[in-house]
Amino acid sequence: MRGPTPQDKFSFGLWTVGWQARDPFGDATRPPLDPVEAVHRLAELGAYGVTFHDDDLVPFGSSDGDRDKMIQRFKDALEQTGLIVPMATTNLFTHPVFKDGGFTSNDRAIRRYALRKVMRNLDLAAELGAKTYVFWGGREGAETDSAKDIRAALSRYAEGIDMLAQYAIDRGYDIRFAIEPKPNEPRGDILLPTVGHAIAFISTLEHADMVGVNPEVGHEQMAGLNFVHGIAQALWQGKLFHIDLNGQHGIKYDQDLVFGHGDLLSAFFLVDLLEFGGVGGSPAYDGPRHFDYKPLRTDDIASVWASAAANMRTYLLLKERAAAFRADPDVQAALSAARVPELSLPTLAAGETYTNLAEDRTAFEDFDLEAAAVRGYHFTQLDQLAVEHVLGARG
Ligand code: GCO
Ligand code: MN
Ligand code: MN
Repeated sequence: MRGPTPQDKFSFGLWTVGWQARDPFGDATRPPLDPVEAVHRLAELGAYGVTFHDDDLVPFGSSDGDRDKMIQRFKDALEQTGLIVPMATTNLFTHPVFKDGGFTSNDRAIRRYALRKVMRNLDLAAELGAKTYVFWGGREGAETDSAKDIRAALSRYAEGIDMLAQYAIDRGYDIRFAIEPKPNEPRGDILLPTVGHAIAFISTLEHADMVGVNPEVGHEQMAGLNFVHGIAQALWQGKLFHIDLNGQHGIKYDQDLVFGHGDLLSAFFLVDLLEFGGVGGSPAYDGPRHFDYKPLRTDDIASVWASAAANMRTYLLLKERAAAFRADPDVQAALSAARVPELSLPTLAAGETYTNLAEDRTAFEDFDLEAAAVRGYHFTQLDQLAVEHVLGARG
């Protein structure tokens, strides 16, 4: 199989390969990684983009002079490698000041500080050509139902996003916002916990058209939800602005495994949807294929690069399998037997009204209920073909 190229639009966060593997129970197992080295290594591996939180690039509390120097080194590395910055985001979760959130802290002064922190990094994101700005509200939440007025918190969340959208518009930035849902961790309960909650929230915003979602595989699966369905709805609503690919084994802590190293069949159907789910089998999504994973804590630094490569290789393998699945005549026959294409036919004929439907005796009075009820859908045969394609047992 061919290796990844920039046309595949694979991107990685600086915080992914750069994760030193500090967890709530143990210290770092790896040394710090220079963002400049990350840029070079990712480019060599075939990625096209690198993303960052403000504090990944410039450690919190750096002086303005140091900040300028670090940004310049990063820009030089981008220029040398041709890597781009498709997305950037803000760290509103590490510093203790954000322990009760950024946009939704009960403390108003902290909310104002959080907005300023975002504005500063939005300027940098725009300067570096980022087209998407992500909002992951890891600390926007609570552990208690007594100490957080959730409706007020949602109002402050909307106020923050509205103000920042206005700021981006007034500055002429060609940038869209993407909200990243997560059900819990680090907060006991995080606001906007799922794709569905986020899309509903977005519909209330002043600049709803410039705000979409950045769903992460593991985050929906932590809530026991079907990620492929979440992505399908985001696409259907025109809200899939960005995506975080990784792996997760069901309902437990956020694992951030390598893409495909969790629910492999779901990863297969996800790649099939993204790559071939558009009109006439074209891609349904053309944004970055962004990996937000954590190399295992047990991995040494050499394995970090092997794990970065594994994300891209697995994605490309699944893309190959999905193409073979779609091209297989047995699959085509099984899709028809399962009546999958029939669902795309509108339930009423063109121009038909409820009056016409009420007059159609074949739809009700003469409808052969028994015959329709016993008809099987043959879904298992179709799913088995998918399993066999994933296993490489067919074509
Ligand atoms: C997580 C989240 C984060 C965010 C990132 C962007 O795993 O909980 O995915 O990694 O995506 O911080 O703000
Ligand atoms: Mn995650
Ligand atoms: Mn993420």
